[in-house]
Amino acid sequence: MNEKLKELKLRRDKISAGGGPKRVEAQHAKGKMTARERIESLLDAGSFTEVDAFVEHRAVDLGMDKTEAPGEGVVIGYGTVSGRIVTVFAQDFTVVGGSLGEMHAAKICKAMDLAMKIGCPCVGINDSGGARIQEGVDALSGYGDIFYRNTLASGVIPQISVIMGPCAGGAVYSPALTDFTIMVDKTANMFITGPQVIKAVTREDVTAEALGGALVHSQTSGCASLMFSNEQETLDGIRKLLSYLPQNNVEDPPVAVTSDDVKRSLPALAAVIPDAPNKPYDTRDVIRQVFDDGDFFEIQPLYAQNIVTCFARLGGKPVGIVANQPKIMAGVLDINASDKASRFIRFCDAFNIPLVTLTDTAGYLPGVGQEHAGVIRHGAKLLYAYSEATVPKITVIVRKAYGGAYIAMCSRHLGADQVFAWPSAEIAVMGPDGAANIIFKKEIDEAANPDATRKEMIEEYKRSFANPYKAAVRGYVDDVIDPADTRIRLATALTMLAGKRETRPAKKHGNFPV
Ligand code: HXC
Repeated sequence: MNEKLKELKLRRDKISAGGGPKRVEAQHAKGKMTARERIESLLDAGSFTEVDAFVEHRAVDLGMDKTEAPGEGVVIGYGTVSGRIVTVFAQDFTVVGGSLGEMHAAKICKAMDLAMKIGCPCVGINDSGGARIQEGVDALSGYGDIFYRNTLASGVIPQISVIMGPCAGGAVYSPALTDFTIMVDKTANMFITGPQVIKAVTREDVTAEALGGALVHSQTSGCASLMFSNEQETLDGIRKLLSYLPQNNVEDPPVAVTSDDVKRSLPALAAVIPDAPNKPYDTRDVIRQVFDDGDFFEIQPLYAQNIVTCFARLGGKPVGIVANQPKIMAGVLDINASDKASRFIRFCDAFNIPLVTLTDTAGYLPGVGQEHAGVIRHGAKLLYAYSEATVPKITVIVRKAYGGAYIAMCSRHLGADQVFAWPSAEIAVMGPDGAANIIFKKEIDEAANPDATRKEMIEEYKRSFANPYKAAVRGYVDDVIDPADTRIRLATALTMLAGKRETRPAKKHGNFPV
């Protein structure tokens, strides 16, 4: 037995060494951890159980019969994050560049299948040269098997993709199919076709970083949900993200212990909103005051900054917040904001996370560019996502809610369960200036002093319409509240709605506008 145990240890040590000391050193020199180090840092200490360590490839072409690939270039298994089970896979760049062949893919699929069977999140750490070229169509079939599983698991278990190195070609579609894609600044990149191919086809000169680095995908393409400046911060960020999420779509999100009293009054909150309706403020200052311990976790913070999407807690219970950001472009809704918010809303709805909407927007962004880029179909996503969501939905109209944007920002008409308005709310078809110019055109044109008359008419419109009471009279707004009471009113409404059960007509699936 001793000999056999020795052999087991030898085999295991060889696998654990990955691509060997030189390649591990090269990995570290780039500021990157090895696959095993990443898993250890992500999971609770000592909780990782590895699966399939002994799997080997069976490729023979192009020298693969002589190529050893310890662990098949990917480490998979399960462990806990804050005591809750997750399955995990981490590609090992030190082994054949973390390239994905048939058996490498089979290991990833096993981690995903396990997560689906037990109903827990699956975290995938990507660091790979893509399809293992020597394995040809077997590598492609491996990707296909992963994409298929990503799709079936969507809305059933949370799926998190972490990009900690290259992620090229079709490989990028697995992260794109998952719920969150988290990238490390400077060391991660994602693209369908790399700089060399682009140069050959379009003659454009671009570096991998400028083409598909973390900043580009966080700020410009919207393909990254989050970026962090190094690997440890990234892994800590994933632990925090998971703390807001249920294990699967039939569980409620976890409740945290908090000493922050839900009855806490917010006397300073009203002062956040400037008296002049066209003056900006940071909606994060509202979020910080209202939710537990001033803490929140933003998703896509650098993309479409005119809308904020984040997780926070109220009375320890996670909520998803969608808030117009008056600080950026007067909080207008545009294509990118609609994309960002609707995806977040659908995630929250799939995973039983109540939605709180904070409305203050100048409306939909006018412009030929927006119209030609399809703001009609993209903007429709927001209406669709809110309407189809059956989780508790509470809206607070903080200031401006005009026209289509009033409807789109989770109005009563899209199924909001409770709508509160602050006294500063302005709910009408359009803003005072535009409205007065149209409905009082004749009076203004015929006046001896048109400018003075325009001002007078604008004031009259403001008195009649730029307030929350017209909507409250109809019952579209349930109550007009003192901002100081926002926290307690939200908490009471969420408690009231905890047992909410709402169904939608049976169907195979809707046809979401894309
Ligand atoms: C086989 C690969 C590989 C791959 C890297 N390696 N990528 N082996 N298949 N796809 C091997 C290298 O030969 C090398 O082996 C080792 O991994 C490390 O790679 P290096 O090139 O030395 O590392 P580095 O300089 O850091 O460059 C990393 C890289 C580069 C930028 C990722 O390796 C690269 O460009 N690889 C090819 C990327 C690519 O085009 N992949 C196919 C994408 S298409 P040795 O033994 O020398 O150390 C695709 C289709 C999927 O994925 C479609 C799904 C639908």
